Amino acid sequence: MQQPRDHFSSQFGVFLAVVGSAVGLGNFWRFPYMVGTHGGAAYIILYLVFVVALCLPIMFSEFIIGRRTQSNVFGAFKKLAPGTGWWGIGLLSVAASIAILSFYCVVGGWTIEYMIQSVVGFSSDVGVLGHNFSSFVESPVRPILWHLLLLGMSAVIVVGGIRNGIEKACKIVMPFLLLMVIFLAIRVLFLPGAGEGVIFLFKPDFSKITAETVLAALGQSFFSLSLGMGCIITYASYVKKEANIVKVSVYTSFADVGFSILCGLAIMPAVFAFGILPSEGPSLAFITLPNIFAQLPFGNAIAFIFFAGLTVAALTSVISLIEVVAAYFTEELKLTRRTAVIITASIIVVTGSLSSLSMGALKGFTIFGKGIFDMFDYLASNILLPLGGLSIVIFVGWVLNKSVVKDELSSEGRHRVPFFKWTMFVIKFIAPIAITIIFLSALGLIKLF
Ligand code: PHE
Repeated sequence: MQQPRDHFSSQFGVFLAVVGSAVGLGNFWRFPYMVGTHGGAAYIILYLVFVVALCLPIMFSEFIIGRRTQSNVFGAFKKLAPGTGWWGIGLLSVAASIAILSFYCVVGGWTIEYMIQSVVGFSSDVGVLGHNFSSFVESPVRPILWHLLLLGMSAVIVVGGIRNGIEKACKIVMPFLLLMVIFLAIRVLFLPGAGEGVIFLFKPDFSKITAETVLAALGQSFFSLSLGMGCIITYASYVKKEANIVKVSVYTSFADVGFSILCGLAIMPAVFAFGILPSEGPSLAFITLPNIFAQLPFGNAIAFIFFAGLTVAALTSVISLIEVVAAYFTEELKLTRRTAVIITASIIVVTGSLSSLSMGALKGFTIFGKGIFDMFDYLASNILLPLGGLSIVIFVGWVLNKSVVKDELSSEGRHRVPFFKWTMFVIKFIAPIAITIIFLSALGLIKLF
């Protein structure tokens, strides 16, 4: 028997859940190290341009598709364009969710390890911290156990449903997380030598920009806002008719960018103050943050709270990813919610363990020159999300009836839609053309620079 569809309780509840999905390891872990490896401020500027010019219209589009159909991502396209092949975007989205979960849960597991390590405290020696990090991620057992724990906790919440699980958790966690990151950013700014990090974050050097950098910034903006893979479509399917989806989209984008910049401010100045290389890569946050904590009074307690916060931030994102796949299994294969979640989690147990092992035991095994972990990340962020985003805007711009778009953006005429014509223009022309150009140039098929 199919349960009646669950719904978020209010517009604010929707906002918090979407922010819960958007704000996560993408802000705390991925953003700072992407900024570090792609040369700093110039990358951030590109990222901001993409958020405003491309991500917002895509977010509108996803909200329109999801709320209109009140269906999982596959069913949504089948309802809106029956008898066509547009449901392919749904399958692409489910694949992207699985790819992201396969490395995301592993990093979420790392935050659990660091939460536990903070009870004993961290060394203030960068060399020791670096060694500590690599020997942990390369080990075969603990990272996999923590990834299973994170996955298990998330699965339980998803089985519990939308309103009482996801929405409630986000209401408690998100304000707490904001306070933590503001506190850290301020503390880090007072470290001697921090100024260099601030300059790195805000003084652009445009000569650093290559086609790869542009694609990486585009990928990061999609990843961070949970776009291009049906996550927002799925959440939107639990949104009631009255909610103002334009407002929710705009506020979510602000909140997410705010978090990313704050995380950059919490990490980058510390990188320079402690003499770490900004291009360190995925280990960046796990070396700088413990180092800061080691030097603070009550550092252990603060570290514990912070890593606990990170774990929960990861959790609220993992939940949204599982929901995409579980909603698809539940509604399309007529499974119970519980069975759907168990199947989803079982897939991730396998792919996640492989990606964790690719840091150590399976290090030599590569696909297209990348280890399994990096391959999942690259495939999802730089290929599947841009492709998904592209297909979604083309669908809303060219296939969906304009009156449906207007109807949804205005919540059936309840709200005014400022800039409707401009939004349509971006959805129809600018977004698809820009994404295509960036994509082709990163693949080396056309030359931008
Ligand atoms: N936006 C999340 C983060 O930044 C990751 C995510 C991507 C979640 C795609 C859902 C969908 O951590």
